[in-house]
Amino acid sequence: MKVIVCQDYAEMSVKAARIIAGQIISKPDGILGLATGSTPEGAYKELIRLYENGLIDFSEIKTYNLDEYYPIKPDNDQSYRYFMDQHLFNHVNIKKENVHIPSGEMKNPAVECKEYDEMVEKDGGIDLQLLGIGQNGHIGFNEPGESLYYETHLTDLTENTIQANSRFFASIDEVPKQAITMGLGTIMKAKKILLLASGKNKHEAIAHLLGDRIDPQVPATLLKVHPDVIILCDKAAYEG
Ligand code: PGA
Repeated sequence: MKVIVCQDYAEMSVKAARIIAGQIISKPDGILGLATGSTPEGAYKELIRLYENGLIDFSEIKTYNLDEYYPIKPDNDQSYRYFMDQHLFNHVNIKKENVHIPSGEMKNPAVECKEYDEMVEKDGGIDLQLLGIGQNGHIGFNEPGESLYYETHLTDLTENTIQANSRFFASIDEVPKQAITMGLGTIMKAKKILLLASGKNKHEAIAHLLGDRIDPQVPATLLKVHPDVIILCDKAAYEG
């Protein structure tokens, strides 16, 4: 794992966007795995700026998002579909048919999750997967302690995650209790992984990730056995 420590969130976001832009330039028809949450917002903003300046082109890029609440409608302003449209897709020239986000309205999650993984495989696999990290060490919504699901699946959110994400909802009761998430296997198959972390509240998770144990209670620690991971974090997340 390569670790890059930035001064602050702004520097981290610009660096993250440059790494993603480099990927887009080197493989214009490549596949990006994308993440939601407050952490990647700055990187998406910078990617839009690079696009507006004619430096990157999304016309042949395909994307697969990590996760989505369940159940949730796509036009709910807390859905990850809505987030991605607002923060990236509506502002760049990506083709609608090249965007994939797990549906929060799956009728048969077991079957449709399997189809999601099959689509990723059929498209040739993810070239660069962007990740955030939960305070509890989750990646996507692969929560601590659940058996380490290999594939995309429906999962129960932990109290810790519901609490952390309630800041985006009018009340904690409105936070969905479940989500569809790529499994750790789907994530580990990505050719490259870029994990972002910002702020003191991510320090404990980052400290575990940089420690020497793979711990199912901190799902991100599985990334230790991936051959090409960059951890891009700010000083607050690194030092605590
Ligand atoms: P955040 O979420 O970027 O909003 O902190 C990250 C995560 O929970 O994976």
